[in-house]
Amino acid sequence: MGYSGNIVEEIKSRCNIVDVIGRTVSLKKMGINHKGLCPFHNEKTPSFIVSEERQHFTCYGCGATGDVIEFVQRYHNLDFFGAVERLAGEYGIDLEKSGYAGEGKKERLYEINREAAAYFYKVFTENKNPGRDYMEKRGFTTSTLRKFGIGYADPEWHSLYEYLTAKGVEKEHLLALGLISESKGKLYDKYRNRVMFPIINTRGKVIGFGGRAIGDDTPKYLNSQESSVFLKKNNLYGLNLTRQEINKEDCAILVEGYIDVMSLYHHGVRNVAASLGTALTENQAAMLKRYTSNIVLSYDADSAGQAATLRGMDILYNAGCKVRVLHQEECKDPDEYIKKNGKEAFLDLVKVAKPFAEYKLDLLRDNSNISTTEGRVNYLKAAAKILKALSPIEADAYVRKIAAETRISEGAIRQEIFGRQNADVIEREQQQKTFTEKKLQSVAKGHGTPIERNLIKLMLVKSDYVPKLEPYVDAFKDPDCFHIYQIIRNLYLPDEEIDTRRIFDSLLEEEAITLKDIMENVQLADKDSHVFEDCIDRIKGSAKNRRMNEIIEMLSVLDEEKDGTAVVALTKELQELQREKNRGEII
Ligand code: CTP
Ligand code: MN
Repeated sequence: MGYSGNIVEEIKSRCNIVDVIGRTVSLKKMGINHKGLCPFHNEKTPSFIVSEERQHFTCYGCGATGDVIEFVQRYHNLDFFGAVERLAGEYGIDLEKSGYAGEGKKERLYEINREAAAYFYKVFTENKNPGRDYMEKRGFTTSTLRKFGIGYADPEWHSLYEYLTAKGVEKEHLLALGLISESKGKLYDKYRNRVMFPIINTRGKVIGFGGRAIGDDTPKYLNSQESSVFLKKNNLYGLNLTRQEINKEDCAILVEGYIDVMSLYHHGVRNVAASLGTALTENQAAMLKRYTSNIVLSYDADSAGQAATLRGMDILYNAGCKVRVLHQEECKDPDEYIKKNGKEAFLDLVKVAKPFAEYKLDLLRDNSNISTTEGRVNYLKAAAKILKALSPIEADAYVRKIAAETRISEGAIRQEIFGRQNADVIEREQQQKTFTEKKLQSVAKGHGTPIERNLIKLMLVKSDYVPKLEPYVDAFKDPDCFHIYQIIRNLYLPDEEIDTRRIFDSLLEEEAITLKDIMENVQLADKDSHVFEDCIDRIKGSAKNRRMNEIIEMLSVLDEEKDGTAVVALTKELQELQREKNRGEII
């Protein structure tokens, strides 16, 4: 975007952080700093410090920290650009003059859209009209209609055109925004006799419109065309009103249409958004991910809805979301369902929404004939394709289910999913496991945490891991495991596998049991690099988690005045760790 570094600097220098925060948080001067109750977590004694000198805030309670822009972002739930705009607006900083390239022109278009929305809204609310009659007949109350800024475009050909041009709006802009159309050199309003749904982004800008026909006219919806301000693929309908709720619930219900969003919202289900009828895009998935990674898909019950569900869930899964699918057959869409059965019944459906793999498998099974051999084999092949996309642990839960359904052995199913060799390994490991499990009932079980045991197994499988693990030797806390590690370390030669017999030669009996147990029971299933990464993440994570607690403890006893430099350094370190944690890099 067109923000130059200057504007950010200018905002930071002109918007005094004490002033900005002081408007919403009551601050008390304490020495050179200001102190108050943290607005980002519940507390009774103030641990929220604002430093005027550093133009920075820090909460020693929850770790929230940042500069004035970050405060506004977080407090008002805005993105960076939204916060810049808000502060610029409040402090009379001219964004256009300050190198706010490109955005200035867009601002004008947003402004025109806003005027149009206000016009439609006025027509909708001021006098009786078919648009309002229609929406009221569909059960919407004045308060919901107002919340969504619903408007009405009257049946005339030039109402909006005349209204806006009289206000000095250029017709090029109206054409670019798709508010008017041109035919044979004549300009006319695009939306006539329609209920108008303004589409508002999370920065509060009106970026486009959907216009619904009253009754059965076609097309049912007319939408804004794509323009520099309306990129359908980047927006979700309703998110401007619902993202806080989505964040709070840590779950988003994704629906198809304008009406579904309004209807769920109206009935008190407010963690909802719509993909604007089109197939869900990667950008939309990434956008949702900013607020939650738990998504419940609740598309229409028709075949188009089902196809959109299948496409949407893959996109969401690839974006790192946990996807579940809400199932309701009796009604065509969530609007109809909640209207008929109420909020609680709908929430019950949300509770039992199926994880996406289960949804796909069930759908597949319903379309297969598993009473014939051929049908079972085809079902299995298709199911294997679905399960391949999952992690081995996720997949394994379904292997058992499919085996029970088809009466095909788990081994054969694994073979289909993981390939012959891997399946053999897993199978053998499974068998061995039951075998050694029996054996181990009479013998003492080996020692070590899962991380220690995985690390040892990794070094046995590939000696390359021995040097790679060197920085993490602290992870070996169990004395048996540490000793095994030391021996492996001593036996290691580059490019040679470790001879396990020689390890056993150096072990005490108890340690030998541990090693044997690890060799027999720790399964890597050909995913050694994944297992390795995972172990390292966990080791780093636990060290960092410990460090974070340590810092928080230290900060609580240090005195900001006296131990100034230490506090600054520790706070900085804590911020960095906190950021890593927020990015999901610390487990
Ligand atoms: N849609 C569209 N153009 C159409 C039909 C649908 O853009 N001709 C989009 C709209 O965003 C609409 C969504 O797809 O909200 C879902 O379509 P549909 O289920 O047909 O509409 P609903 O929103 O459910 O509206 P209604 O309840 O009035 O049928
Ligand atoms: Mn619908």
